[in-house]
Parts: sequence; C-alpha cells; structure tokens
Amino acid sequence: MIVLASVVAACTGSTSGPTTTTEATTTIAQPPTTASPPTTASPPTTRPASPDETLTSIGDPFYPALGNGGYDVTRYDIELTLLDDGTIVGFTTVTAVATADLDRFSLDFGSTSATPDDQPTVDAVRVDGVDAGWDHDGEELVVTPPAALTAGASFVTEVEYSPVASAAESRALPVAVGWYEGPSGVRYVVAEPDGAHRWFPSNDHPSDKATFSISVTVPAGTIAAANGSLVDQIDDIGTTTFVWEEDDPMATYLATVVVSDRYAVVRDEAAWAATGIDVRHILPDDMADDPPIALDRTAEMIGVLSDLFGPYPFDEYGVAFVDGFGAALENQTLSLFDTELADAPILELVLIHELAHQWFGDSLTPRWWEDIWLNEGFATFAELLWIEHEGGETAYRDEIRRRIGQARSSGLGPPGSPSPSNLFAGGVYQRGALTLVALRDEVGDDVFFEILRAYTARYAYGNVTTADFVAVAEELSDRDLSVLFDTWLYDDQIPG
Ligand code: TRP
Ligand code: ZN
Repeated sequence: MIVLASVVAACTGSTSGPTTTTEATTTIAQPPTTASPPTTASPPTTRPASPDETLTSIGDPFYPALGNGGYDVTRYDIELTLLDDGTIVGFTTVTAVATADLDRFSLDFGSTSATPDDQPTVDAVRVDGVDAGWDHDGEELVVTPPAALTAGASFVTEVEYSPVASAAESRALPVAVGWYEGPSGVRYVVAEPDGAHRWFPSNDHPSDKATFSISVTVPAGTIAAANGSLVDQIDDIGTTTFVWEEDDPMATYLATVVVSDRYAVVRDEAAWAATGIDVRHILPDDMADDPPIALDRTAEMIGVLSDLFGPYPFDEYGVAFVDGFGAALENQTLSLFDTELADAPILELVLIHELAHQWFGDSLTPRWWEDIWLNEGFATFAELLWIEHEGGETAYRDEIRRRIGQARSSGLGPPGSPSPSNLFAGGVYQRGALTLVALRDEVGDDVFFEILRAYTARYAYGNVTTADFVAVAEELSDRDLSVLFDTWLYDDQIPG
C-alpha cells in the first residue's frame, strides 16, 4: 500500500515519499525511489513571471511536456459516458483565452507509453464550432483551428475521444496516475501530478487553473461523484447523468471522479450546520452504514484549521473511500482515501493532512512543481498542529523531536530541492514541515499565524512560489529571513 510519507513516518519510522506495498498488509515497503540529485547552491527563489513558453510547454523546467504556451484556460466542461461494457468515452470542451496570436495550439492529452490500450483515440476536434485539424502524438494534441486566433480572443475547443485510458506510471513518483479500477470495482481518478491529461485534454499544469463542470452518464443504479457540488441529476431510460460543478478555480491535477454501483453519498448535516460547508462523503455501501468515527470530527477539524489558516476556501468538503491506490490524495473539495486507511490509527492525521491541502495546494497552488513543499510541508505541519490541539505543547514538541530524529537518521534531503523523478520525497514532507516549525520559533506565534493567514488571503484561488511565501513572512515579521529559509529549504544538512 502507498501511504503518504508523513503519516508513514509518523507511525512506522519510514521516511521516504509515498511508499508502496503490494498487498493488504500492514507492512510498508519502500518504493523504488530514485536517488536525489546532488544538491548544490540554493536555486533562485524567484523565477520570471512569464517563463519561456512554447507551443508544447508552459516552461516548467521540471516537466517541460506539461502545460502549453499561448493560451489560458478559463473552464473545462468534461462529459463522460460509462458504457455497459465498462468503456468510458469522453467529450471535453475547453474554454480558453489566447495570450498570443495562434495559428496552432497544443493540448496535453494521452500518454507517451502509447501501448494501444494506453492511448485514447481522438474522434473529432472543433474550434468555435467548426471542424479543426489535429495531430495527436504521444502526450500532445496539436490543434490547427480553421482560422488563426488573435491574442486576447476567447475560443472554445471541443474534443471527442474514446476510450478513457487506464492509469499509467507517473513521471514524478513510482505510482500510476489516471483512471483506476479498484478490486471492489469502484472506478476513480488519481492524477497528481501528471495524470489529468490521461483522461481529458487540458493545459495540464498547476499554473493554469480553471472552473470545471464534470458530467458523468452511468447505467441506472450506479453513482458518480466529482469535485464541487451536484448541480443536476438526470434520469433517462436505463441511465443517470450526474452533473458536478466546481466553480472555484481548480488545477487540472485536482479534478477527480468516483464511479460505483455500490456507493452512497453520506451528507453530514451537523457539519453543515456548524460550518456552513456542504460536507458530503462518498462511501462504499457497507462503510456508509458505519462510517469511520474519525469522520465525525470533520466539522471540528475544519473549525480548528480555519482558525489557524483563515476561512476554509471552498463551498464543499468530503472524502471518498476507494480501494486499490493505497494512499490519500487532496482532490479539491473531495479528498480520496484508500479504504485501508479507514480503520488505521493514522486515519485522523491523514484526514487533517488532506484537509490542510484544501488551503495549501488546492486554493494556493504551486506555480512550479519544484515548489511542492508549499503543499506537502504545510499539510505535514498541519499534522503537528492537530497533535498540539489534542495534546498541547508537550505533545507538539515531542513529536517534533521524534520527526527531527527520523529525518536526521534517514538523511532526508532538502525540501526546496526535490528531484523531478521523486517529487514527493520524504524531505519535502518532513523537512518542509520543520521549516515552518523553525519559522514559528523564530517569529513567535502571533506573527507566525498572521503570516499564514495573510498568505492564504493574498493568494487564495491562485498560484504561489516559495518567494511569495518568504516575502509575506518577511513583510509581517519585519525581518530578513533569508538565512532561515535558505538553510532549511536548500541545505543538505538539517540545521541545528
Ligand atoms: N499529495 C499526496 C499527499 O497528500 C501524495 C500523492 C501525490 C499521491 N501523488 C500521488 C498519492 C499519487 C497517491 C497517488 O501526500
Ligand atoms: Zn500531502
């Protein structure tokens, strides 16, 4: 099973990134991690605002093939149909604004490991309602619109395709990303960081966020859930269409769907009453009858984190329990949890971790993948805050000592310099969290939490870099924090 590094580390002493075991046991094996690159001097904490975009690259040096230049997506309308034979066919409408004059543009779509099963077939492409030319090669779908687009113009691209391919190995961690089918038959999407374009044509980079409608037509008796709220449910002869709408901007990697004929939507009315957030969980029928007790604390967790981080950013929250991916993942408004976590002692900490990602990762999304510690370090730090909430300062300090000890003994690398082939390394999680512990110790509680709240308010629903966070911290503390951040984020050795 794969469990996020932080909770594995907290409970087993393992310290790598998401880890893998192949069976439903409590043993947690190491994934085939790639060695970290030799770390050199600090990378610059700033990058140019407009990177070197090209037709097929938005300019992210970690993953040049992800994202594309020349346009900004404002909205995705994804329509999927689950056929009786289990095939999923897709129709995605991408609404975008050209940022340059374009006679062609590229969408990320499909896979490079193009075994026939892995590659969806594109059946039609239209731009502004008119048939367009296209060339689908590996992960790029290059579209030639019937007439050139001018900078500033909004345009609508429709892509019909089938089938939606199953999950395939990620370039960033030893885990498959895309559509999964669990042993129970549940089907769902796990996409971080590079799996979104395996199931819908997209500008698959976190710096291009958009609103989403995800509509799924399934045989009657099956349910489909996705991000945001259910805005329509249309029963037809033998089928039901579920229409979900996420009207806050969302990164492509956070889009998710869960489909099963043995699931129920469980609404937490008390949580709604307490928080004003629509809390709904997507649970297998047997679990819906007897949900994990930690789920009862969802409203309390939202309250605790809102007090510390600022208001919860979205209108809904909930978790979906699915089997077969062995981890947890913070999809926007709907985190995914492996059913194996349901009765694990670590469930409560993983719930806090994924909930914290709704602020750090989902509302405030890294502009560049390299800054992934802005997600994982903060979510891991939230675990420490929950431990403090439960056990007071002694529990907080004890846990920090334990994690520093583990980080040292296993030589975790610096959080600001992960490797593109091992993005979710243990150091990103644990040393990322310890960076925030060091900042809190340096500036004191009042200023520290003001920094967090100013940061979440300033960049809500947007993108962030490490430099953005450092700037807020320096501004509110009125200190030069460059030494603190440089040593904690980029030094090989753990400071102190
Ligand atoms: N973001 C996840 C976490 O909360 C880790 C993760 C990233 C992951 N990509 C994944 C887990 C793919 C499972 C599968 O820590
Ligand atoms: Zn995480």
